Amino acid sequence: MQNDTDFLLIGSGIGGLTFALQVADHGTVAVVTKKSDHESSTNYAQGGIAAVMSDKDSFRSHLEDTLQAGAGLCKRRVVEEVVRRGPECIQQLMEWGARFSLAEDGATLALGREGGHSHNRIVHAADLTGAEIERTLLGRINDHPNVRVFPNHQAVDLIMDEAGRCRGAYILDAESGRVDVFSAPVTLLATGGCGNVYQHTTNPAIATGDGLAMAYRAGAVVANLEFMQFHPTTLYTPEARSFLISEAVRGFGGILRTVAGERFMTKYHPCKELAPRDVVARAIDRELKLSGQPYVLLDLTHINPDRVKSRFPYIYRRCLEYRLDITREPIPVVPAAHYMCGGVRTGLDGRTSLPGLYATGEVACTGLHGANRLASNSLLEALVISHRAAAAAAAELRSAPAPKTELPPWDKGGSHDSEEWVLISHDRSEIQRLMWDYVGIMRSNKRLERARRRLNLIVNDIEDFYRHTPVTEGLIELRNLAQVAQAIIRCAQSRRESRGLHYTTDYPERDDRRGRRDTVLRRLRQG
Ligand code: FAD
Ligand code: SIN
Repeated sequence: MQNDTDFLLIGSGIGGLTFALQVADHGTVAVVTKKSDHESSTNYAQGGIAAVMSDKDSFRSHLEDTLQAGAGLCKRRVVEEVVRRGPECIQQLMEWGARFSLAEDGATLALGREGGHSHNRIVHAADLTGAEIERTLLGRINDHPNVRVFPNHQAVDLIMDEAGRCRGAYILDAESGRVDVFSAPVTLLATGGCGNVYQHTTNPAIATGDGLAMAYRAGAVVANLEFMQFHPTTLYTPEARSFLISEAVRGFGGILRTVAGERFMTKYHPCKELAPRDVVARAIDRELKLSGQPYVLLDLTHINPDRVKSRFPYIYRRCLEYRLDITREPIPVVPAAHYMCGGVRTGLDGRTSLPGLYATGEVACTGLHGANRLASNSLLEALVISHRAAAAAAAELRSAPAPKTELPPWDKGGSHDSEEWVLISHDRSEIQRLMWDYVGIMRSNKRLERARRRLNLIVNDIEDFYRHTPVTEGLIELRNLAQVAQAIIRCAQSRRESRGLHYTTDYPERDDRRGRRDTVLRRLRQG
């Protein structure tokens, strides 16, 4: 079956939905999304959105903080534009119905503080900012007659024509098991990140790098995948998937201590707990190795309990489920994979290197984050770039609407071999362990090489199985995770220095003479 639409959007987080609302007045929009409509990293964002919303703050200061975190690799023009357009995008979200936390005067926005920011500039809805954004955007989308959302529809691969133009995507309907053609002159990747490449991640299960892998297979330029951000503080408990303890907790006065009670960030950075994330994550990693303990502590017990409960109602409630009262006991925390700073290379208008294909949000690499993302700059980036990309895509559609033609149907593949699938499905946890142990916070030539060799074998096995088997959700994700892991290792091996989030014991220093460049990968398309 072929579905024709003007705009095909893959993903229903902040990136996809913001774009959808902007293009919906210019044509028909199909939003395909892997699980339910709100299931996305966006939905779990806690801290908030960074933007200059107070007279005491300035664009220059937000720009400088972003450049400082990015360790010499941010694109200045992109940072300037994203920072400058932040306030109007927040205003637009509020006009669409988003309710953010207010200061005590009940009129101005309450602005939180996070690591690396020299001013309070984090707009938030208590510690449920992302859920508020999803609620707002989905509410508007569901009212729009031009937009149709397809939950439980997973993109398998992009459809490229002979001229190298993206013409849509093959989409698996999870209920029927059928793969349909979705054809569109404009396709947007808004598929989020790839945290599930690692054993421990803050990301929800949907974050398997699908968009990145699809774009790479189609021949798009991808960049800077070695810069994977590890969030310093996730709840340490065997019972929960790495539950995030927001950086805003440290911004609110939370203190990091060893299990023995010693405050340790004073040894590592003048900003102590509010140092940039890479510094805090590495400091925790080092303290864990020094002490042999499995976690460090994040202490809020010196702060008035009522203030803690009212600022962090979600974190307070979730920790109580694990029998931990954060107003009385310090929180055991460990780092976990959190955010992909690299991705599909785009310009400020979300255009990728492939005609007809746009990307926005975490899947994209615009140059805003450089070698390390400043906290709460990702929701901001997704908002600003989606607005700009929507304007560019609508203009492209007006100037050259693509002819509607039949595209080749999906080739079903061979028959399913369930015994082999049992063998192959173990590869997922092997990849995740391998990436955690060898391509994590601290890297070395030896570890990366070991990971590369093992991954090559796994990728070949999966590819062979994939070619002879009808696709399923699990198989699509496994193939993508393996290819993304392989691409991360390639990028990491080619950076022979330590910069931002990439730290290797073989080259512990930053090398500005050779390292001040993006790491770029591009696979040549076959056929
Ligand atoms: P997502 O919101 O992840 O949405 C991706 C969408 O694509 C989902 O709908 C998914 O189902 C869909 N999808 C994926 N693959 C496919 C496929 N093959 N086919 C169809 N659909 C697919 N950033 C901040 O700036 N501030 C914060 O406070 C903050 N807190 C965070 C807290 C947590 C726990 C996490 C995990 C991240 C946080 N981040 C934060 C990062 C930020 O939330 C994400 O970078 C951002 O939400 C990404 O938005 P997105 O639209 O690109 O992707
Ligand atoms: C957090 O709340 O700590 C997450 C903020 C972010 O990832 O930007």
